[in-house]
Amino acid sequence: EKKISIAIDGPAAAGKSTVAKMIAKDLSYVYIDTGAMYRALTYMALKKKIDLENEEELANLLSTIHIRLVLDETGQKVFVNDEDVTDVIRSNEVTSNVSVVAKHPKVRKEMVLRQRDMAHGGGVVMDGRDIGTHVLPYAELKVFLKASVDERAKRRHEENLRKGFESNLEKIKEEIRKRDKLDSERETAPLRKAKDAIEIDTTALSIEEVVEKIKKLIKGRI
Ligand code: C5P
Repeated sequence: EKKISIAIDGPAAAGKSTVAKMIAKDLSYVYIDTGAMYRALTYMALKKKIDLENEEELANLLSTIHIRLVLDETGQKVFVNDEDVTDVIRSNEVTSNVSVVAKHPKVRKEMVLRQRDMAHGGGVVMDGRDIGTHVLPYAELKVFLKASVDERAKRRHEENLRKGFESNLEKIKEEIRKRDKLDSERETAPLRKAKDAIEIDTTALSIEEVVEKIKKLIKGRI
């Protein structure tokens, strides 16, 4: 059986990672969370008090760090060098700053090289903002997941409450809107649906329904 590459893009909190992980598991493919890579760099930059507008310093910092994505039965873990940053990269501080770090061309250039390297040989499900348009333009299947801001914020809010985290629905909405705006309006590789991507509006769909739709799309391409 042919091992294909699957690109899953879309705005913040559209359910990309949940769906991508399920598809990867089903096919025994590798899941690559590119957002975690930008988050890991942002975390390190904040820790080292680097000015997030300073492209040169961010690129230098990135050249000194190794970002590792590890997937096991307990879920995904993210390491920077030897530090486990799995939880800290989801903090509000990282989330509200990551789009500033991710706008810099030099940062993106290096991330894309690393991502293509990880995807080498196929058999990958990769999620992000520019996978179908830039990282894997030849992916056999490209999916663009979208959902209304209200629905995405509601899902994130309910997830937080389930995990016992403090959560404010209005703040989440604001953060999602702000991040989508920065990600769609940046000059380098902005968030866009690739011409050949298949758009799925998940507003009224369950996770299982989205996964089923994507599995059907995969069938024709393997
Ligand atoms: O997917 P996630 O929400 O974790 O991504 C965090 C941020 O990383 C995005 O808001 C975006 O600024 C950046 N990102 C990106 N390109 C990608 C993946 C993520 O610019 N391929």
